[in-house]
Amino acid sequence: MIYAANWKLHKTPEQAQNFLRELSQSYKPHHNDKVVIFPPALLAGVFSQELQNSTMGWGLQNSYSQEQGAFTGENSAGTAKVMGAQYVLVGHSERRSLFAERDELLAEKVKLAQSLGLQVVFCIGETLEQREKNQTRSVLIEQIRKGLKSAQAKNLIVAYEPVWAIGTGKVATPEQVAETHTWIAQILKDHSLDLVPILYGGSVKPDNAAVLKQQAHVAGFLVGGASLEVSSFLGIIKA
Ligand code: PGA
Repeated sequence: MIYAANWKLHKTPEQAQNFLRELSQSYKPHHNDKVVIFPPALLAGVFSQELQNSTMGWGLQNSYSQEQGAFTGENSAGTAKVMGAQYVLVGHSERRSLFAERDELLAEKVKLAQSLGLQVVFCIGETLEQREKNQTRSVLIEQIRKGLKSAQAKNLIVAYEPVWAIGTGKVATPEQVAETHTWIAQILKDHSLDLVPILYGGSVKPDNAAVLKQQAHVAGFLVGGASLEVSSFLGIIKA
């Protein structure tokens, strides 16, 4: 299983260091498990140092589609790679909705990150309105078709995060997760992206993780709120 933590815009360098030290002390990874943390970009230096000889991975929550140039305020995937990052998150719903990132731009980001040898965790998911109108499947098809246009199956992980379940405490039911992940696995296959791990994200907590883990095509989780405390993140890993 893959346990990915999305810290969003949380934690100071000191808090990050304490978290990483506490987690490494209390967690001995099962050989089939992978823990990956996505801190805010300003904490890259802390991760670069603290995780030098660790089995835990880390990456940026967002990186630009160009490695360098006149792009004030952006983050370079190339620099993250040099600093030891192995992953990058692309297309999180907050990037899509709050920062107006379009599928075409996301496709460019995926392409650059993969060309640098980074593993991309690509996020997809429908809004509540789209689910209620039975558009979930077609929304996911479009997000995959456009956003993963130039993607390679190698170094790709997809995170299914229904927008209505992110940060709301409203988790998708096990049946919804199983059905949707099965669709996604088929859509990926139709785009020659076979055997790509699919994570579920959206209000994952220690008390719902065990059931969700057992659903079809669930290869792990992308965790927001519950990844900010070692105890709740570990609770999900051990569930
Ligand atoms: P959440 O966030 O676990 O707080 O719902 C998930 C995410 O946005 O990746």
